[in-house]
Amino acid sequence: MNSITKSLLQSIKPGQAAWLRSNSTRSGKLCLPKLVLGIETSCDDTGAAVVDDAGNILGEALHCQKEVHLKAGGIIPLVAQQLHRENIEQIVKEALSISGVSVNELAAIATTVKPGLALSLGVGLEYSLKLVNKYKKPFIPIHHMEAHALTIRLTNQVEFPFLVLLLSGGHCILAVAQGVSDFLLLGQSIDIAPGDMLDKVARRLSLSKHPECHSMAGGKAIEHLAQTGNRQHYTFRVPMQQYRNCDFSFSGLQNLVNKVIIQKEKEEGLQEGELLSCVKDIAAAAQHAVAVHIVKRTYRAMLFCIKHSILSPKNATLVVSGGVASNQYIRKGLQILADANGFAFLCPPPRLCTDNGVMIAWNGIERLRAGLGVLHCTDGIRYEPNAPLGCDISKRVEEDSIKVPRLKMKF
Ligand code: KG4
Ligand code: ZN
Repeated sequence: MNSITKSLLQSIKPGQAAWLRSNSTRSGKLCLPKLVLGIETSCDDTGAAVVDDAGNILGEALHCQKEVHLKAGGIIPLVAQQLHRENIEQIVKEALSISGVSVNELAAIATTVKPGLALSLGVGLEYSLKLVNKYKKPFIPIHHMEAHALTIRLTNQVEFPFLVLLLSGGHCILAVAQGVSDFLLLGQSIDIAPGDMLDKVARRLSLSKHPECHSMAGGKAIEHLAQTGNRQHYTFRVPMQQYRNCDFSFSGLQNLVNKVIIQKEKEEGLQEGELLSCVKDIAAAAQHAVAVHIVKRTYRAMLFCIKHSILSPKNATLVVSGGVASNQYIRKGLQILADANGFAFLCPPPRLCTDNGVMIAWNGIERLRAGLGVLHCTDGIRYEPNAPLGCDISKRVEEDSIKVPRLKMKF
């Protein structure tokens, strides 16, 4: 073990923060609850919410651009920016008015500043800074993935540390949450995210033309069709089996699926854009390969964390979030894995798994209470399209080369 990895492992200690709600300032009679407005514009959802320091969601509003992007065949950043611009003021006003809270009553404004689409992040940041400067409020810049990871502490009583798996259209991350802004990055996708892959496969299969899938997100359409498909009609090789690390890869799998689609189109005498008769079977087999890949990498992460006492086998928890975490098939695989290893398995409700303003406001509350990154001067604050989460120990994980036992699981 080299000195870098030694010092990395020495720094791995459980976060000291206990469950926040138990120490709520609301217990003091004269203490008014602290309120944070959260603003999210990192991708294709304009979200805002007001959350108090006891974890009550006072009001929230969301404008979803998915239908527009679905028709365009993918997110066009300039279109996303324009839609954020058109909606942000209304969404923030709506969240505040449902909450019955004025900007003056807020303890702080929290906004996603990283990572995400530059043009989208810019809209939220610019709007937030105007509010912050006008009302002289503290500003809390938020890391979008940190917010996804901490959402579970709003809905469930979860203490640090816990293992967290974030699966979305833009990200695929395995990390240990040790504290509010203290993460160990165990692995991530080396190419595209699972949601991106499923969206691309859905598009290549023209699922938006399928009568059962009208206006469903790509991943959702795959899940829906897979329910009545036979995954055993096709076998897609699970990615990266020769690499004993916690990284992910989905673009090779996407190519394998594409090859089968092209072959089937030839066999059925169809052009690209026409619906194959076997879409359900292809959807089921692709979803299965994605699920097995995710479960295997997570299994290795669990073994690594237990081996190095990063998590205690007595009360270890696996948290899964992000848009793809609403997939019941993938969830079932992870639930079986968690049960087999004595991990509690937790997932926020679907509406909090996907992008929203609540998770940003809650991250603001967590940071406010921990006194972390609350800015009283916003000079020089910038958005960052690319921003890693936490301390990257993925090389250390790879060095251990942990063999994952055969999974005896029936999905
Ligand atoms: O977290 P999210 O709302 O946005 C970001 O990407 O940040 O995730 C959206 C992704 C899309 O790729 C969508 O196809 C996927 O989540 N998704 C699903 C399901 N519902 C949404 N993937 C698989 N199964 C689902 N049920
Ligand atoms: Zn997200």
